[in-house]
Amino acid sequence: MTPTPCDISDRSLAAEGKLRIEWSDQQMPVLTMIRRRFSEDRPLAGARIAACLHVTSETANLMRTLKAGGAEVVLCASNPLSTQDDVAAALVEEHEIPVYARRGEDRDTYYAHLESALRTNPHITMDDGADLISLLHEKHPELLAEMWGGTEETTTGVVRLRAMASQGDLAIPLMAVNDSDTKHLFDNRYGTGQSTLDGILRATNILLAGRDLVVVGYGWCGRGVASRADGLGANVIVVEVDPVRALEALLDGYRVASMTEAAALGDLFVTVTGNKHVIRKKHFNAMKDGAMVCNSGHFDVELDLPGLYELAREHRKVRTSVEEFRLLDGRRIYLLGEGRLINLAAAEGHPAAVMDMSFANQALAAEFLAGRRDERLEPGVHPVPADIDRKVAELKLETLGISLERLTPEQEKYLGNWHEGT
Ligand code: ADE
Repeated sequence: MTPTPCDISDRSLAAEGKLRIEWSDQQMPVLTMIRRRFSEDRPLAGARIAACLHVTSETANLMRTLKAGGAEVVLCASNPLSTQDDVAAALVEEHEIPVYARRGEDRDTYYAHLESALRTNPHITMDDGADLISLLHEKHPELLAEMWGGTEETTTGVVRLRAMASQGDLAIPLMAVNDSDTKHLFDNRYGTGQSTLDGILRATNILLAGRDLVVVGYGWCGRGVASRADGLGANVIVVEVDPVRALEALLDGYRVASMTEAAALGDLFVTVTGNKHVIRKKHFNAMKDGAMVCNSGHFDVELDLPGLYELAREHRKVRTSVEEFRLLDGRRIYLLGEGRLINLAAAEGHPAAVMDMSFANQALAAEFLAGRRDERLEPGVHPVPADIDRKVAELKLETLGISLERLTPEQEKYLGNWHEGT
């Protein structure tokens, strides 16, 4: 038997990884149901799928599902600091799935791993942040003609894809998994909400009650972080550029402020905007001694880290995932998780129970693309069909043993009748 190709940190971690994958699997009943059906129907037979996702136990269960469906799969990391090395080892050793990912890999290795995944000439790509699709279009356009399409997991990736489409640069159909209701309403809000605080607490072990916590960005992720921090007793301050979202945050009960105002108030700052340098030099300069900053947005650009280095006269690591920057006047600022997604850098990412729905969407979107291999969708950004989204919600409720109410015939008729008013 030829060995499974890979570039991972330590194969000897496979036994630990296997247990971790099994543990997550117990919380992913929808994906398990899909995997069972896939192994009978084999809807992905003949498909080569290259996935660039966070290499976690939940992703491992998605990879197993795609393989059960008949696909040849390869996995590389979508972030240099989110890989669970034991999971990578188990995927290679136990499931014979090629993996290119090492926790803490540098930028060159990160891109070399994406290149390795693309060397399989995929029919379908799966991205979390659109790095694979971007690399395909920039460096390997010759591979695009054979492709059936791709999927995108996250808000930042969908924003990038829409920018590519509007500039006429997107050559294949991409399914915006992030935009499914059963993805962003749960994964972004409750997943990011809980796992971001999990990362902050594992990194620092601070008491959140009574602290002033600034959430920068009030999209679905920001809403989740704010509500969970509020639940733990923090005083939440929201910074937003969008007037409707700012009003929503205000009426949800939070203080709303500009970044300049909030900089002087916060004990802890969390960025979740998807944008660049939302906390920069002038804000670091206004912070209290001991302020902590972290990011839970996809890329590590939200904090102006080069600016922070310029302001600092000393810099040292003080705990796992915590670095201290001493400014010229002696104040200290603490950076958590190197400014990378704190939920994956310092904790284990979203809980499996929400990834169950996100990855059910991914698996079903791949099946959808494979079903159209001969009659491909138009290039562009496509929603996951509404019936798939609804099916995921129905299956999730079913696995939780929760019954839905049904409309009576009278109610159905009433909803379709515009004559009956006051
Ligand atoms: N994104 C956020 N949390 C994740 C997880 N647990 N697995 C894969 N991708 C994630």
